[in-house]
Amino acid sequence: MKIGAAGERFPGEARVAMTPASVKDLARLGHEAVIESGAGAAAGYRDDDYAAAGATVVADEAAVQAAADVLVRVRPPESSEIAALRPEQTLISFFYPGQNEAALKQAAATGATVIAMDMVPRISRAQKMDALSSMANLAGYRSVIEAANNFGRFFTGQVTAAGRIPPARVLVVGAGVAGLAAIGASVSLGAVTLAFDVRPEVAEQIESMGAEFVFLDFDSEAQDGAATGGYAAPSSPEFLAAQLRKFRELAPSIDIVITTALIPGRPAPKLWTRDMVEMMKPGSVIVDLAAERGGNCELTIPDEKFVTEGGVTIIGYTDFPSRMAQQASSLYAANIAHMIADLTPGKDGVLVQDMEDDVIRGATVTHAGEVTWPPPPPKVQAIAVQKREKPKELTREEKIALEKAAFRKQTVTQVATLAIGGILILLAGYFAPASLMTHLTVFVLACFIGFQVIWGVAHALHTPLMAITNGISSIIIIGALLQIGSAGWLVLVLAAVAVALAGVNIFGGFLVTRRMLAMFQKS
Ligand code: NAI
Repeated sequence: MKIGAAGERFPGEARVAMTPASVKDLARLGHEAVIESGAGAAAGYRDDDYAAAGATVVADEAAVQAAADVLVRVRPPESSEIAALRPEQTLISFFYPGQNEAALKQAAATGATVIAMDMVPRISRAQKMDALSSMANLAGYRSVIEAANNFGRFFTGQVTAAGRIPPARVLVVGAGVAGLAAIGASVSLGAVTLAFDVRPEVAEQIESMGAEFVFLDFDSEAQDGAATGGYAAPSSPEFLAAQLRKFRELAPSIDIVITTALIPGRPAPKLWTRDMVEMMKPGSVIVDLAAERGGNCELTIPDEKFVTEGGVTIIGYTDFPSRMAQQASSLYAANIAHMIADLTPGKDGVLVQDMEDDVIRGATVTHAGEVTWPPPPPKVQAIAVQKREKPKELTREEKIALEKAAFRKQTVTQVATLAIGGILILLAGYFAPASLMTHLTVFVLACFIGFQVIWGVAHALHTPLMAITNGISSIIIIGALLQIGSAGWLVLVLAAVAVALAGVNIFGGFLVTRRMLAMFQKS
Protein backbone atom coordinates (compact mmCIF):
# COMPACT_ATOMS: atom_id res chain seq x y z
CA MET A 1 0.00 0.00 0.00
CA LYS A 2 1.03 3.62 -0.46
CA ILE A 3 1.36 5.65 2.74
CA GLY A 4 1.31 9.40 2.09
CA ALA A 5 2.14 12.46 4.18
CA ALA A 6 1.51 16.07 3.22
CA GLY A 7 2.83 19.17 4.99
CA GLU A 8 0.82 20.40 7.97
CA ARG A 9 -1.41 23.39 7.19
CA PHE A 10 -2.04 24.51 10.79
CA PRO A 11 -0.30 27.86 11.32
CA GLY A 12 2.98 27.42 13.20
CA GLU A 13 2.88 23.61 13.15
CA ALA A 14 6.40 22.39 12.42
CA ARG A 15 5.93 18.65 12.93
CA VAL A 16 5.52 16.10 10.15
CA ALA A 17 3.92 12.64 10.35
CA MET A 18 6.59 10.83 8.33
CA THR A 19 10.38 10.90 8.70
CA PRO A 20 13.11 9.24 6.62
CA ALA A 21 13.51 6.67 9.40
CA SER A 22 9.79 5.82 9.39
CA VAL A 23 9.87 5.52 5.59
CA LYS A 24 12.35 2.64 6.07
CA ASP A 25 10.14 1.07 8.77
CA LEU A 26 7.16 1.23 6.42
CA ALA A 27 9.19 -0.36 3.62
CA ARG A 28 9.97 -3.31 5.92
CA LEU A 29 6.20 -3.81 6.24
CA GLY A 30 5.86 -3.93 2.46
CA HIS A 31 4.51 -0.37 2.08
CA GLU A 32 5.65 2.46 -0.19
CA ALA A 33 5.94 6.04 1.05
CA VAL A 34 4.84 9.22 -0.71
CA ILE A 35 5.62 12.65 0.70
CA GLU A 36 4.88 16.22 -0.34
CA SER A 37 7.96 18.22 -1.22
CA GLY A 38 9.02 20.39 1.72
CA ALA A 39 6.70 18.63 4.19
CA GLY A 40 9.53 17.89 6.62
CA ALA A 41 11.47 21.13 6.14
CA ALA A 42 10.30 22.84 9.35
CA ALA A 43 11.26 19.74 11.34
CA GLY A 44 14.69 19.55 9.75
CA TYR A 45 14.04 16.70 7.29
CA ARG A 46 14.99 17.45 3.66
CA ASP A 47 13.38 16.04 0.50
CA ASP A 48 16.71 14.40 -0.36
CA ASP A 49 16.69 12.50 2.96
CA TYR A 50 13.22 11.15 2.20
CA ALA A 51 14.21 10.20 -1.34
CA ALA A 52 17.37 8.49 -0.05
CA ALA A 53 15.22 6.50 2.39
CA GLY A 54 13.12 5.28 -0.54
CA ALA A 55 10.12 7.66 -0.50
CA THR A 56 8.61 9.22 -3.60
CA VAL A 57 8.63 13.00 -3.24
CA VAL A 58 5.64 14.62 -4.99
CA ALA A 59 4.91 18.26 -5.74
CA ASP A 60 1.85 19.04 -3.62
CA GLU A 61 -0.84 17.86 -1.20
CA ALA A 62 -3.22 16.96 -4.05
CA ALA A 63 -0.65 14.55 -5.48
CA VAL A 64 -0.23 12.87 -2.06
CA GLN A 65 -4.01 12.65 -1.67
CA ALA A 66 -4.37 11.09 -5.11
CA ALA A 67 -1.57 8.55 -4.69
CA ALA A 68 -1.99 7.41 -1.08
CA ASP A 69 -4.08 4.54 0.27
CA VAL A 70 -3.25 5.66 3.81
CA LEU A 71 -2.84 9.31 4.70
CA VAL A 72 -0.85 10.16 7.80
CA ARG A 73 -0.89 13.57 9.45
CA VAL A 74 -0.35 15.33 12.77
CA ARG A 75 -3.11 17.90 13.36
CA PRO A 76 -6.80 16.98 12.97
CA PRO A 77 -7.84 17.39 9.31
CA GLU A 78 -9.67 20.47 8.11
CA SER A 79 -13.11 20.09 6.57
CA SER A 80 -11.75 20.36 2.99
CA GLU A 81 -9.22 17.62 3.71
CA ILE A 82 -11.94 15.34 5.06
CA ALA A 83 -14.12 16.03 2.02
CA ALA A 84 -11.31 14.81 -0.24
CA LEU A 85 -11.15 11.35 1.45
CA ARG A 86 -12.06 8.34 -0.68
CA PRO A 87 -14.07 5.40 0.77
CA GLU A 88 -11.16 2.95 0.47
CA GLN A 89 -8.71 5.38 2.10
CA THR A 90 -7.50 5.31 5.73
CA LEU A 91 -6.55 8.47 7.56
CA ILE A 92 -4.26 8.19 10.59
CA SER A 93 -4.02 11.43 12.56
CA PHE A 94 -4.75 13.16 15.84
CA PHE A 95 -8.53 13.69 15.64
CA TYR A 96 -9.96 14.37 19.15
CA PRO A 97 -13.37 12.89 18.22
CA GLY A 98 -14.99 14.08 21.47
CA GLN A 99 -14.38 17.69 20.50
CA ASN A 100 -14.87 17.30 16.74
CA GLU A 101 -18.22 15.60 16.32
CA ALA A 102 -19.09 17.43 13.09
CA ALA A 103 -15.78 16.37 11.54
CA LEU A 104 -16.42 12.83 12.73
CA LYS A 105 -19.78 12.69 10.99
CA GLN A 106 -18.32 14.23 7.85
CA ALA A 107 -15.51 11.64 7.82
CA ALA A 108 -17.95 8.76 8.36
CA ALA A 109 -20.04 10.00 5.42
CA THR A 110 -17.04 9.70 3.08
CA GLY A 111 -16.82 5.96 3.91
CA ALA A 112 -13.13 6.31 4.77
CA THR A 113 -11.56 4.73 7.87
CA VAL A 114 -10.20 7.23 10.38
CA ILE A 115 -7.76 6.13 13.05
CA ALA A 116 -7.33 8.72 15.80
CA MET A 117 -3.87 8.57 17.34
CA ASP A 118 -5.24 10.32 20.45
CA MET A 119 -7.63 7.40 21.02
CA VAL A 120 -4.97 4.67 21.31
CA PRO A 121 -5.90 2.95 24.58
CA ARG A 122 -3.37 3.20 27.41
CA ILE A 123 -2.60 -0.50 27.68
CA SER A 124 0.88 -2.04 27.81
CA ARG A 125 0.80 -3.48 24.29
CA ALA A 126 -0.14 -0.11 22.81
CA GLN A 127 2.64 1.90 24.46
CA LYS A 128 4.70 1.99 21.28
CA MET A 129 1.76 3.64 19.47
CA ASP A 130 0.87 6.03 22.28
CA ALA A 131 1.41 9.35 20.54
CA LEU A 132 -0.23 11.36 23.34
CA SER A 133 2.41 10.05 25.74
CA SER A 134 5.22 10.74 23.25
CA MET A 135 4.07 14.32 22.90
CA ALA A 136 3.40 14.79 26.62
CA ASN A 137 6.89 13.49 27.40
CA LEU A 138 8.36 16.16 25.11
CA ALA A 139 6.07 18.84 26.51
CA GLY A 140 7.10 17.99 30.07
CA TYR A 141 10.79 18.25 29.24
CA ARG A 142 10.32 21.41 27.21
CA SER A 143 8.26 23.06 29.96
CA VAL A 144 11.30 22.93 32.26
CA ILE A 145 13.59 24.30 29.56
CA GLU A 146 11.08 27.09 28.87
CA ALA A 147 10.82 27.83 32.59
CA ALA A 148 14.63 27.93 32.91
CA ASN A 149 14.78 30.30 29.95
CA ASN A 150 12.41 32.71 31.67
CA PHE A 151 13.81 32.32 35.18
CA GLY A 152 16.56 34.73 36.08
CA ARG A 153 18.48 32.35 38.34
CA PHE A 154 20.34 29.06 38.42
CA PHE A 155 18.35 25.86 38.90
CA THR A 156 21.10 24.22 40.88
CA GLY A 157 22.46 25.58 44.15
CA GLN A 158 26.08 26.72 44.17
CA VAL A 159 28.70 27.81 46.65
CA THR A 160 30.82 30.47 44.94
CA ALA A 161 33.49 32.91 46.12
CA ALA A 162 30.81 35.60 45.97
CA GLY A 163 28.47 33.67 48.26
CA ARG A 164 26.01 30.85 48.47
CA ILE A 165 23.31 30.48 45.80
CA PRO A 166 20.23 28.51 46.88
CA PRO A 167 18.77 26.01 44.39
CA ALA A 168 15.51 26.85 42.65
CA ARG A 169 12.38 25.21 44.09
CA VAL A 170 10.16 23.64 41.44
CA LEU A 171 6.65 22.29 42.02
CA VAL A 172 5.20 19.92 39.44
CA VAL A 173 1.44 19.45 39.72
CA GLY A 174 0.21 16.24 38.09
CA ALA A 175 2.71 13.42 37.72
CA GLY A 176 1.43 11.74 34.57
CA VAL A 177 3.60 11.41 31.49
CA ALA A 178 4.31 15.14 31.10
CA GLY A 179 4.72 15.63 34.85
CA LEU A 180 7.24 12.81 35.22
CA ALA A 181 9.24 14.13 32.26
CA ALA A 182 9.24 17.58 33.89
CA ILE A 183 10.34 16.10 37.21
CA GLY A 184 13.20 14.24 35.47
CA ALA A 185 14.40 17.38 33.68
CA SER A 186 14.07 19.58 36.75
CA VAL A 187 15.94 17.15 39.03
CA SER A 188 18.70 16.73 36.44
CA LEU A 189 19.14 20.51 36.30
CA GLY A 190 19.67 20.46 40.05
CA ALA A 191 16.49 22.14 41.32
CA VAL A 192 14.80 21.06 44.54
CA THR A 193 11.76 19.42 42.99
CA LEU A 194 8.42 18.83 44.67
CA ALA A 195 5.57 17.03 42.97
CA PHE A 196 1.91 16.40 43.63
CA ASP A 197 -0.64 14.08 42.12
CA VAL A 198 -4.08 12.86 43.11
CA ARG A 199 -2.95 9.28 42.55
CA PRO A 200 -1.00 8.36 45.70
CA GLU A 201 0.59 5.35 43.97
CA VAL A 202 2.89 7.66 41.99
CA ALA A 203 4.58 8.85 45.20
CA GLU A 204 7.17 6.08 45.05
CA GLN A 205 7.96 6.80 41.41
CA ILE A 206 8.36 10.50 42.17
CA GLU A 207 10.68 9.81 45.09
CA SER A 208 12.74 7.32 43.09
CA MET A 209 13.43 10.13 40.62
CA GLY A 210 14.90 12.29 43.35
CA ALA A 211 11.88 14.56 43.86
CA GLU A 212 9.75 14.98 46.96
CA PHE A 213 6.09 13.93 46.95
CA VAL A 214 3.80 16.50 48.54
CA PHE A 215 1.55 14.53 50.89
CA LEU A 216 -1.81 15.90 51.95
CA ASP A 217 -3.29 15.55 55.38
CA PHE A 218 -6.27 13.69 53.98
CA ASP A 219 -7.91 10.29 54.35
CA SER A 220 -6.38 8.46 51.38
CA GLU A 221 -9.27 5.94 51.34
CA ALA A 222 -11.53 8.75 50.22
CA GLN A 223 -9.19 9.56 47.35
CA ASP A 224 -8.51 6.58 45.21
CA GLY A 225 -7.39 8.43 42.12
CA ALA A 226 -6.36 5.29 40.21
CA ALA A 227 -9.39 4.80 38.06
CA THR A 228 -9.84 4.06 34.41
CA GLY A 229 -7.16 2.95 31.97
CA GLY A 230 -4.23 4.73 33.60
CA TYR A 231 -6.10 8.03 34.07
CA ALA A 232 -7.14 9.69 37.33
CA ALA A 233 -10.66 9.93 38.76
CA PRO A 234 -12.15 13.36 39.57
CA SER A 235 -11.31 14.76 43.03
CA SER A 236 -13.94 15.26 45.71
CA PRO A 237 -14.57 18.91 46.83
CA GLU A 238 -13.02 18.13 50.26
CA PHE A 239 -9.89 16.77 48.63
CA LEU A 240 -9.65 19.78 46.31
CA ALA A 241 -9.94 22.10 49.33
CA ALA A 242 -7.13 20.25 51.13
CA GLN A 243 -5.03 20.41 47.97
CA LEU A 244 -5.51 24.15 47.56
CA ARG A 245 -4.69 24.70 51.26
CA LYS A 246 -1.41 22.86 50.76
CA PHE A 247 -0.57 24.78 47.57
CA ARG A 248 -1.31 28.09 49.33
CA GLU A 249 1.12 27.07 52.05
CA LEU A 250 3.80 26.22 49.47
CA ALA A 251 3.29 29.17 47.05
CA PRO A 252 5.57 31.75 48.72
CA SER A 253 8.55 29.35 48.69
CA ILE A 254 8.15 28.03 45.14
CA ASP A 255 10.09 29.60 42.24
CA ILE A 256 8.70 27.57 39.36
CA VAL A 257 5.34 25.84 39.00
CA ILE A 258 4.70 23.40 36.18
CA THR A 259 1.10 22.25 36.00
CA THR A 260 0.04 19.22 33.98
CA ALA A 261 -3.08 18.11 35.89
CA LEU A 262 -5.81 16.87 33.65
CA ILE A 263 -8.49 14.23 33.45
CA PRO A 264 -9.19 13.43 29.79
CA GLY A 265 -12.44 14.83 28.43
CA ARG A 266 -12.83 17.35 31.26
CA PRO A 267 -11.80 20.97 31.59
CA ALA A 268 -8.50 21.39 33.45
CA PRO A 269 -9.07 21.78 37.23
CA LYS A 270 -8.14 25.21 38.58
CA LEU A 271 -5.39 24.40 41.04
CA TRP A 272 -3.14 27.47 41.05
CA THR A 273 -5.36 30.39 41.96
CA ARG A 274 -4.86 34.15 41.58
CA ASP A 275 -3.88 34.59 45.25
CA MET A 276 -1.25 31.85 44.92
CA VAL A 277 0.26 33.67 41.92
CA GLU A 278 0.28 36.87 43.98
CA MET A 279 2.08 35.10 46.83
CA MET A 280 4.95 34.04 44.54
CA LYS A 281 8.18 36.04 44.46
CA PRO A 282 8.87 38.37 41.49
CA GLY A 283 10.86 36.47 38.86
CA SER A 284 8.97 33.23 39.47
CA VAL A 285 7.64 31.29 36.49
CA ILE A 286 4.48 29.26 35.92
CA VAL A 287 4.28 26.92 32.92
CA ASP A 288 0.73 25.71 32.41
CA LEU A 289 0.74 22.63 30.20
CA ALA A 290 -3.03 22.24 30.60
CA ALA A 291 -3.57 25.62 28.86
CA GLU A 292 -5.32 23.92 25.94
CA ARG A 293 -8.13 22.76 28.27
CA GLY A 294 -8.46 26.11 30.06
CA GLY A 295 -5.34 25.86 32.21
CA ASN A 296 -4.62 24.74 35.78
CA CYS A 297 -3.67 28.30 36.70
CA GLU A 298 -6.49 30.81 37.01
CA LEU A 299 -4.57 33.51 35.12
CA THR A 300 -3.24 31.46 32.20
CA ILE A 301 -3.92 32.84 28.72
CA PRO A 302 -3.72 29.96 26.19
CA ASP A 303 -0.94 30.32 23.62
CA GLU A 304 0.53 33.34 25.37
CA LYS A 305 3.33 34.28 27.70
CA PHE A 306 2.91 37.32 29.93
CA VAL A 307 4.27 38.81 33.14
CA THR A 308 1.86 39.66 35.99
CA GLU A 309 2.03 42.91 37.94
CA GLY A 310 3.77 40.97 40.69
CA GLY A 311 6.53 39.96 38.26
CA VAL A 312 5.47 36.32 37.77
CA THR A 313 5.83 35.00 34.21
CA ILE A 314 2.93 32.76 33.13
CA ILE A 315 3.45 30.62 30.04
CA GLY A 316 0.40 29.05 28.41
CA TYR A 317 1.87 27.74 25.14
CA THR A 318 -0.04 24.82 23.69
CA ASP A 319 2.52 23.88 21.05
CA PHE A 320 5.48 22.60 23.06
CA PRO A 321 5.94 19.46 20.92
CA SER A 322 6.04 21.63 17.79
CA ARG A 323 8.79 23.69 19.43
CA MET A 324 10.89 20.52 19.38
CA ALA A 325 9.69 19.56 15.92
CA GLN A 326 12.49 17.23 14.89
CA GLN A 327 12.31 15.08 18.01
CA ALA A 328 8.50 15.26 18.09
CA SER A 329 8.22 14.22 14.43
CA SER A 330 10.61 11.34 14.92
CA LEU A 331 8.59 10.00 17.89
CA TYR A 332 5.21 10.62 16.26
CA ALA A 333 6.24 9.05 12.95
CA ALA A 334 7.55 6.03 14.89
CA ASN A 335 4.20 5.77 16.73
CA ILE A 336 2.40 5.86 13.38
CA ALA A 337 4.75 3.24 11.89
CA HIS A 338 3.98 0.97 14.88
CA MET A 339 0.25 1.51 14.32
CA ILE A 340 0.68 0.59 10.64
CA ALA A 341 2.69 -2.47 11.72
CA ASP A 342 -0.31 -3.52 13.85
CA LEU A 343 -2.55 -2.99 10.83
CA THR A 344 -0.21 -5.08 8.63
CA PRO A 345 0.01 -8.41 10.48
CA GLY A 346 1.45 -10.27 7.47
CA LYS A 347 4.18 -7.62 6.87
CA ASP A 348 3.10 -7.93 3.23
CA GLY A 349 1.88 -4.43 2.53
CA VAL A 350 -1.78 -5.45 3.05
CA LEU A 351 -3.80 -3.49 5.62
CA VAL A 352 -6.15 -5.56 7.84
CA GLN A 353 -8.69 -3.53 9.81
CA ASP A 354 -9.15 -6.08 12.63
CA MET A 355 -11.97 -4.67 14.76
CA GLU A 356 -11.42 -7.45 17.35
CA ASP A 357 -7.97 -6.00 18.15
CA ASP A 358 -8.24 -3.78 21.25
CA VAL A 359 -5.84 -1.15 19.97
CA ILE A 360 -7.19 -0.91 16.42
CA ARG A 361 -10.80 -0.95 17.63
CA GLY A 362 -10.07 1.67 20.30
CA ALA A 363 -8.41 4.08 17.89
CA THR A 364 -10.78 3.63 14.92
CA VAL A 365 -13.34 6.41 15.00
CA THR A 366 -14.99 5.90 11.61
CA HIS A 367 -15.14 2.76 9.48
CA ALA A 368 -17.26 1.59 6.54
CA GLY A 369 -19.47 4.66 6.65
CA GLU A 370 -20.17 4.40 10.40
CA VAL A 371 -19.02 6.46 13.35
CA THR A 372 -17.31 3.86 15.56
CA TRP A 373 -16.57 6.22 18.45
CA PRO A 374 -16.73 5.85 21.42
CA PRO A 375 -15.27 2.33 21.43
CA PRO A 376 -16.27 -0.37 23.93
CA PRO A 377 -13.83 -0.58 26.88
CA PRO A 378 -10.71 -2.61 25.98
CA LYS A 379 -10.95 -6.28 27.01
CA VAL A 380 -7.73 -6.01 29.01
CA GLN A 381 -9.23 -3.22 31.08
CA ALA A 382 -12.54 -5.04 31.48
CA ILE A 383 -10.63 -7.92 33.08
CA ALA A 384 -8.71 -5.54 35.34
CA VAL A 385 -11.92 -3.85 36.43
CA GLN A 386 -13.53 -7.17 37.29
CA LYS A 387 -10.59 -8.01 39.53
CA ARG A 388 -10.96 -4.75 41.42
CA GLU A 389 -14.52 -5.62 42.48
CA LYS A 390 -14.82 -5.31 46.28
CA PRO A 391 -15.29 -8.57 48.22
CA LYS A 392 -18.68 -8.98 49.89
CA GLU A 393 -18.84 -7.27 53.32
CA LEU A 394 -19.40 -9.87 56.11
CA THR A 395 -21.74 -9.32 59.04
CA ARG A 396 -20.35 -9.40 62.62
CA GLU A 397 -21.85 -12.86 63.24
CA GLU A 398 -20.38 -14.23 60.01
CA LYS A 399 -16.94 -12.84 60.93
CA ILE A 400 -17.09 -14.44 64.43
CA ALA A 401 -18.19 -17.78 62.96
CA LEU A 402 -15.33 -17.66 60.43
CA GLU A 403 -12.77 -16.83 63.14
CA LYS A 404 -14.08 -19.68 65.36
CA ALA A 405 -13.82 -22.19 62.49
CA ALA A 406 -10.27 -21.05 61.69
CA PHE A 407 -9.25 -21.36 65.38
CA ARG A 408 -10.75 -24.86 65.64
CA LYS A 409 -8.92 -26.00 62.50
CA GLN A 410 -5.63 -24.54 63.76
CA THR A 411 -6.01 -26.25 67.19
CA VAL A 412 -6.69 -29.65 65.63
CA THR A 413 -3.57 -29.35 63.41
CA GLN A 414 -1.37 -28.28 66.34
CA VAL A 415 -2.60 -31.06 68.69
CA ALA A 416 -2.14 -33.69 65.96
CA THR A 417 1.42 -32.50 65.21
CA LEU A 418 2.34 -32.51 68.93
CA ALA A 419 0.88 -36.01 69.46
CA ILE A 420 2.73 -37.48 66.44
CA GLY A 421 5.98 -35.77 67.50
CA GLY A 422 5.59 -37.03 71.10
CA ILE A 423 4.97 -40.62 69.97
CA LEU A 424 8.01 -40.57 67.66
CA ILE A 425 10.29 -39.23 70.46
CA LEU A 426 8.97 -41.90 72.90
CA LEU A 427 9.67 -44.62 70.36
CA ALA A 428 13.17 -43.23 69.70
CA GLY A 429 13.86 -43.05 73.49
CA TYR A 430 12.69 -46.64 73.98
CA PHE A 431 14.70 -48.26 71.19
CA ALA A 432 17.73 -46.00 70.48
CA PRO A 433 20.97 -45.87 72.56
CA ALA A 434 21.16 -43.13 75.23
CA SER A 435 23.74 -41.04 73.32
CA LEU A 436 21.32 -40.61 70.36
CA MET A 437 18.95 -38.56 72.51
CA THR A 438 21.67 -35.95 73.19
CA HIS A 439 22.49 -35.73 69.48
CA LEU A 440 18.82 -35.60 68.58
CA THR A 441 18.21 -32.71 71.01
CA VAL A 442 21.14 -30.76 69.51
CA PHE A 443 19.88 -31.56 65.99
CA VAL A 444 16.32 -30.40 66.74
CA LEU A 445 17.58 -27.18 68.37
CA ALA A 446 19.94 -26.53 65.44
CA CYS A 447 17.06 -27.03 63.00
CA PHE A 448 14.90 -24.65 65.03
CA ILE A 449 17.56 -21.92 65.20
CA GLY A 450 18.51 -22.39 61.53
CA PHE A 451 14.85 -22.13 60.52
CA GLN A 452 14.33 -18.97 62.58
CA VAL A 453 17.53 -17.34 61.27
CA ILE A 454 16.95 -18.08 57.59
CA TRP A 455 13.16 -17.75 57.45
CA GLY A 456 13.06 -14.44 59.27
CA VAL A 457 15.35 -12.78 56.74
CA ALA A 458 13.98 -10.84 53.74
CA HIS A 459 14.46 -12.74 50.47
CA ALA A 460 16.60 -10.00 49.01
CA LEU A 461 19.13 -10.54 51.81
CA HIS A 462 19.46 -14.31 51.43
CA THR A 463 22.57 -14.09 49.26
CA PRO A 464 24.52 -11.87 51.70
CA LEU A 465 23.30 -14.14 54.49
CA MET A 466 24.65 -17.20 52.70
CA ALA A 467 27.96 -15.42 52.29
CA ILE A 468 28.15 -14.60 55.99
CA THR A 469 27.18 -18.12 57.10
CA ASN A 470 29.83 -19.32 54.71
CA GLY A 471 32.31 -17.19 56.64
CA ILE A 472 31.04 -18.39 59.99
CA SER A 473 30.95 -22.01 58.90
CA SER A 474 34.68 -21.79 58.56
CA ILE A 475 34.67 -22.86 62.16
CA ILE A 476 36.94 -25.48 60.74
CA ILE A 477 39.74 -23.03 61.42
CA ILE A 478 39.37 -23.70 65.14
CA GLY A 479 39.87 -27.42 64.63
CA ALA A 480 42.92 -26.74 62.47
CA LEU A 481 44.40 -24.33 65.04
CA LEU A 482 44.02 -26.99 67.75
CA GLN A 483 45.94 -29.45 65.58
CA ILE A 484 48.72 -27.07 64.59
CA GLY A 485 50.80 -27.89 67.68
CA SER A 486 50.66 -31.61 66.86
CA ALA A 487 53.93 -33.60 66.69
CA GLY A 488 53.31 -35.27 63.31
CA TRP A 489 54.52 -33.18 60.33
CA LEU A 490 51.67 -34.36 58.09
CA VAL A 491 49.06 -33.17 60.59
CA LEU A 492 50.93 -29.86 60.88
CA VAL A 493 50.96 -29.33 57.09
CA LEU A 494 47.31 -30.27 56.76
CA ALA A 495 46.38 -27.95 59.64
CA ALA A 496 48.35 -25.06 58.08
CA VAL A 497 46.65 -25.59 54.69
CA ALA A 498 43.25 -25.76 56.43
CA VAL A 499 43.96 -22.46 58.27
CA ALA A 500 45.00 -20.76 55.01
CA LEU A 501 41.94 -21.96 53.06
CA ALA A 502 39.51 -21.28 55.88
CA GLY A 503 41.06 -17.80 56.23
CA VAL A 504 40.31 -17.07 52.57
CA ASN A 505 36.78 -18.36 53.09
CA ILE A 506 36.16 -16.24 56.19
CA PHE A 507 37.58 -12.96 54.88
CA GLY A 508 36.12 -13.57 51.40
CA GLY A 509 32.71 -14.23 52.94
CA PHE A 510 32.75 -10.96 54.86
CA LEU A 511 34.09 -9.01 51.87
CA VAL A 512 31.37 -10.33 49.55
CA THR A 513 28.74 -9.57 52.20
CA ARG A 514 29.96 -5.98 52.49
CA ARG A 515 29.80 -5.50 48.72
CA MET A 516 26.33 -6.99 48.49
CA LEU A 517 24.95 -4.89 51.32
CA ALA A 518 26.49 -1.79 49.71
CA MET A 519 24.31 -2.45 46.67
CA PHE A 520 21.21 -1.90 48.83
CA GLN A 521 22.49 1.28 50.44
CA LYS A 522 21.73 4.75 49.09
CA SER A 523 24.92 6.57 48.15
P1 NAI B 1 -1.67 12.29 32.12
O1 NAI B 1 -3.10 11.90 32.13
O2 NAI B 1 -0.62 11.26 31.92
O3 NAI B 1 -1.31 13.08 33.45
C1 NAI B 1 -2.15 13.96 34.08
C2 NAI B 1 -1.87 13.80 35.55
O4 NAI B 1 -2.60 14.77 36.25
C3 NAI B 1 -2.29 12.44 36.07
O5 NAI B 1 -1.21 11.83 36.75
C4 NAI B 1 -3.42 12.77 37.03
O6 NAI B 1 -3.45 11.90 38.14
C5 NAI B 1 -3.06 14.16 37.43
N1 NAI B 1 -4.19 14.91 37.95
C6 NAI B 1 -5.47 14.93 37.51
N2 NAI B 1 -6.20 15.76 38.28
C7 NAI B 1 -5.35 16.27 39.21
C8 NAI B 1 -5.51 17.18 40.28
N3 NAI B 1 -6.68 17.74 40.55
N4 NAI B 1 -4.42 17.46 41.03
C9 NAI B 1 -3.23 16.90 40.78
N5 NAI B 1 -3.02 16.04 39.79
C10 NAI B 1 -4.07 15.73 39.00
O7 NAI B 1 -1.54 13.42 31.04
P2 NAI B 1 -0.22 13.83 30.31
O8 NAI B 1 -0.12 13.03 29.08
O9 NAI B 1 0.91 13.88 31.25
O10 NAI B 1 -0.54 15.31 29.88
C11 NAI B 1 -0.59 16.33 30.87
C12 NAI B 1 -1.07 17.63 30.27
O11 NAI B 1 -0.15 18.12 29.33
C13 NAI B 1 -2.40 17.52 29.54
O12 NAI B 1 -3.15 18.64 29.94
C14 NAI B 1 -2.03 17.61 28.09
O13 NAI B 1 -3.08 18.17 27.31
C15 NAI B 1 -0.89 18.59 28.22
N6 NAI B 1 -0.01 18.66 27.09
C16 NAI B 1 0.31 19.92 26.72
C17 NAI B 1 1.10 20.16 25.65
C18 NAI B 1 1.45 21.56 25.35
O14 NAI B 1 2.12 21.81 24.36
N7 NAI B 1 1.05 22.51 26.16
C19 NAI B 1 1.61 19.04 24.84
C20 NAI B 1 1.27 17.73 25.34
C21 NAI B 1 0.47 17.57 26.43
